Amino acid sequence: MNIKNVVVIGSGTMGSGIAAQLCNAGVPVTLLDLKTEISEKAKKKIFDSRPPLLIDKSKIDNIKVGNIEENFDLVEKADWIVEAVVERIDIKHNLYEKISKARKQNSIISSNTSTIPLKVLSAKMSKEDKKDFCITHFFNPVRYMGLLEIVSEEINDIKKINFLKNFCEENLGKGVIICKDTPGFLGNRVGVYAMQIAMTEAIKMDLSIEEADAIFGRPMGIPKTGVFGLYDLIGIDLMADVLKSFIKELPASDVFHEVAKEIPLVKNLIETGYTGRKGKGGFYRMNKQDGKKILEAINLKNGKYLPSKKIDLNIEEKVSLKDLVSRNDKYGKYAWSVVSKIILYASSLIPKVTNDYNNIDEAMRLGFNWTKGPLEMLEELGVKFFVEKNNQLTTNEFIKKLHNKNTDSFYGKRQIYTNLETLGKVKQLAKVKKDNKSAFIYEHKDSKIVEFNTKANTLDYDSMDALKKASDKNLIIINEGMQFSTGVNLNYVMHFVKEKNWKAIEKFIHHFQMTCKQLKYSNNLVISAPSGLALGGGFEVLVQSDYVVAHSNIVTGLVETLVGLIPAGGGTTNMLCRWMQTQEAKKDPDFAPQKVFDIIGYGKTASSPIEAMPFKFLLEKDKSIMNRNKLLSASQDLINEKKDGYNPPKQPTFKLSGDQVRDKMFQTLENLFKDKKILEHGMEVGKKLAFVLSGGNTSIDKELSEDDMYALELEAFMQLIQMEKTQARIKHTLSTGKPLVN
Ligand code: NAI
Repeated sequence: MNIKNVVVIGSGTMGSGIAAQLCNAGVPVTLLDLKTEISEKAKKKIFDSRPPLLIDKSKIDNIKVGNIEENFDLVEKADWIVEAVVERIDIKHNLYEKISKARKQNSIISSNTSTIPLKVLSAKMSKEDKKDFCITHFFNPVRYMGLLEIVSEEINDIKKINFLKNFCEENLGKGVIICKDTPGFLGNRVGVYAMQIAMTEAIKMDLSIEEADAIFGRPMGIPKTGVFGLYDLIGIDLMADVLKSFIKELPASDVFHEVAKEIPLVKNLIETGYTGRKGKGGFYRMNKQDGKKILEAINLKNGKYLPSKKIDLNIEEKVSLKDLVSRNDKYGKYAWSVVSKIILYASSLIPKVTNDYNNIDEAMRLGFNWTKGPLEMLEELGVKFFVEKNNQLTTNEFIKKLHNKNTDSFYGKRQIYTNLETLGKVKQLAKVKKDNKSAFIYEHKDSKIVEFNTKANTLDYDSMDALKKASDKNLIIINEGMQFSTGVNLNYVMHFVKEKNWKAIEKFIHHFQMTCKQLKYSNNLVISAPSGLALGGGFEVLVQSDYVVAHSNIVTGLVETLVGLIPAGGGTTNMLCRWMQTQEAKKDPDFAPQKVFDIIGYGKTASSPIEAMPFKFLLEKDKSIMNRNKLLSASQDLINEKKDGYNPPKQPTFKLSGDQVRDKMFQTLENLFKDKKILEHGMEVGKKLAFVLSGGNTSIDKELSEDDMYALELEAFMQLIQMEKTQARIKHTLSTGKPLVN
């Protein structure tokens, strides 16, 4: 059995996403739709998509297009036929009849349906077809969402299902959970219920949408879009269709019905075209006033929009779930009401919907980007605490059983859906060697693992301390959270700025530099295994590791100039060093500084390992991995392969032409200023960057050490951080999550 050729039928949102991911895996794929123009258009959309669905845009022509009338003969050659047409059973049935006649023996057929039961889809199929047919439920956007649910029935050839599971894990990089044929399967059954509870309780308890999103968001380990933001993102109309299907499929006794009732405000939004981000807006909308864009939020009582308010919950960054639900104000009451109902509902699905409660948690992680699932929340709260605070347990067998056992901790293994040795599994068993508030250190085989543990894994003094302490052994830097690291913790830096404590900032940046230097020159291997964002300081950790084992979805680069700073944790120096190795640099000493000036000056980023190579953010020696769950074992394999005879790199020296190349860079800045592409502050930042990259007050016959370069970086950083304009840029970025344009 092998999958060398795939046909995807239906080139809408999901068909396109699936085709793009097959293309990313190097599998030839054809997208068929009613007309070739439709699939042709879809192909263009794939090419232009942002964030990009393709890892390597140059491979777009590995996706062929066609229509179901003239090109159906392609189905005959396909090893796997994926149906992703509109959610209409009559259309799907007609298509299966056609596929059945055309497909080759042993090929796999699957549907991407999100709501139609497998039994209904396969009702008219022959026994032979039923054997080869299952549901492969991908999530949108396919490249970025980790979850794939495979729904199979008794009649299926289990070997084939396992083969498909392995293929989707290995080649498409998905976390594959095998589900029973129950409505909404696992992810949506719990995820949509959670969204509905969060919405209906907000209405009942008189919370504004901003308040609800502030609680049903980061404090609970849920993405910051919260519930109303997520509704807008998915599409309010699409959510209404999903709810209708749940109402149709679920028995009347299911409490889902209580939260799926039509809400007049929602109905009105859909009817007036406020279907979310793709429409005129939704619960939130962007409004223009006096030429300025203003984010507005809807009032749940009267449906009127008002400027969105930032909610201060007055909590610490890492509030415990217990503290959150125990608060005696409306926020605590809302949190408890939502969390307890989600836990009750999720646990009521065991064992009918899944035998393994861990699958529920993992589905919420992979499909909804929660950092912990409902049952993990229960474990965190403690069964006793939960039962004492809740009086609706009469029908919940799962929790009753746990309660009778009289034990608070019940959680067994994690990530049981995969055989891979993942960080999630390893850290559950590993001894936490040392942890501080910003990072954990785990012992793993002969190596150590550092996992950053701050919001978006921003880096501070403690993060560096952990790296330093762990570099006495071969080290893997990896994390389970969404982002590897979004760079230096700017809140931490701004705290010192407020006190004008420049010494503390200098000490921190120097510590950052010296830690990364230690990573680079220690006698042990250091592997960084990033996924998600690895920006600024996060990239500086990568660039000073011996190898990078990167997830295919990384976004990486040096973005410091966007906040009016320059990379000073060794990023500028190391990028220069990388570009100095090129043939062009050997001929022209000004080539490398100018190239790096462009890359850092514009804050360039790459959104895949392949895109990272031309910038030299990653090198040939680094690895790209499709399945995030494989990052740890691939890093460990690399250590095993390289550890014998490992020698740290030699320290480079730098021959730079000082003001000769600086003048060229200044000229570039003058031109940008004249064209109004940058303002005065941008000029200042550019000049400081130019000063570092040109080697400062040097000339081509002098040799600078790496420490000289670090000193230049630090000096430039310290000058920039003291500028009011830089501080204003940082404040803007911290409050809006986005850098100032210009
Ligand atoms: P869509 O509406 O974006 O695209 C459907 C495509 O199917 C259209 O291009 C249409 O022209 C084509 N089509 C219709 N009849 C056809 C036929 N007889 N032969 C060939 N093509 C035909 O739909 P979307 O959102 O991509 O959904 C597709 C499937 O994936 C549905 O079953 C849906 O339930 C499921 N799904 C959707 C998700 C989402 O977020 N949109 C998530 C997970 C599953």
